[in-house]
Amino acid sequence: MNTTAHIPVLVNEVIAGLNLKPSDNVIDATLGGGGHAEAILEATALNGKLLGIDWDSKAVKRAQERLAKYKNRLILKTGNYRNVKEIIYESGFNEVSAVLLDLGLSTDQLADKSRGFSFSSEGPLDMRFSDQEGLTAAAVVNTWSEKDLAHIFRKYGEERHASRIAHLIVALRQRAPFNSALELADVVLRGAGRRGGKKRISARGGSAFGRHPATRVFQALRITINRELENLEAALPEMVDILASQGRLAIISFHSLEDRIVKQFFKREAIGCLCPPELPECRCRHQARLRLINKKVITPTEDEIRRNPAARSAKLRIAEKI
Ligand SMILES: C[S@@+](CC[C@H](N)C(=O)[O-])C[C@H]1O[C@@H](n2cnc3c(N)ncnc32)[C@H](O)[C@@H]1O
Repeated sequence: MNTTAHIPVLVNEVIAGLNLKPSDNVIDATLGGGGHAEAILEATALNGKLLGIDWDSKAVKRAQERLAKYKNRLILKTGNYRNVKEIIYESGFNEVSAVLLDLGLSTDQLADKSRGFSFSSEGPLDMRFSDQEGLTAAAVVNTWSEKDLAHIFRKYGEERHASRIAHLIVALRQRAPFNSALELADVVLRGAGRRGGKKRISARGGSAFGRHPATRVFQALRITINRELENLEAALPEMVDILASQGRLAIISFHSLEDRIVKQFFKREAIGCLCPPELPECRCRHQARLRLINKKVITPTEDEIRRNPAARSAKLRIAEKI
């Protein structure tokens, strides 16, 4: 059996925030292990339908098994959520009352040694969410210029030692290309001026001293190859377009780059005219499309973090279509 080890985060807050009713049609655009999907299907019983999307066909398969008992109310699709309009058209899914985006990667993907997401993985340096399309992390690490590597480590990983790490990678790959996540993690440790950390590397990326120094570089590579920020920016307006009036959009993010995009998008869509105040009349014709449901970002309780440490950096924002 294809079971999932992923524990969904902020489940009660998501279900309450989406204000679900028994016949609502909901999209879970990042299906993962199907934990949120199951809670949504329970909250919309007996007639609500769920369209679950994930870029990772293995995740869709796992969720299909987990959600088998709801199969009459379920449509599952493998695909990028930024193509949501195409996906709902093909699926004949309409009157969407709620959309959930739970960004990032799942515990199942992290634990799968063949995906290269974890520092301790000796498998290929892949890191693609999609198991079918896109550039691998190995291609980036082994072919991009030192300048471009340093740029993404700095921009998407906020890594202080970006230049040093990029320099070391480029020097070492001339002897032999990087093949595994473990090899890369070791070099990042050296580039960041930390030695002897290899033994302490855990599958979740933690070390005996807290955050593993390679966390930021791995995050940067993952964001780059999966175009995570571009997908999010492109998808947000589409998600609002497909929602019915008074439908709700809930987004869980796990790092500040994503949360900033969501926060700014919600803020902009919640106000009308965007013209500078000195203009006597509105020229932009911008109209508010959203109402913020939570003014302050929602974070997990200490109890949830104790039960599920992976939830520690989760941030939930919810808005309603006007
Ligand atoms: C944090 S997990 C979701 C966990 C899920 N909410 C649950 O309860 O099990 C994020 C999922 O989003 C998927 N994902 C990431 N980017 C995606 C994209 N652009 N389109 C579709 N799925 C994506 C990943 O493959 C991963 O399975």
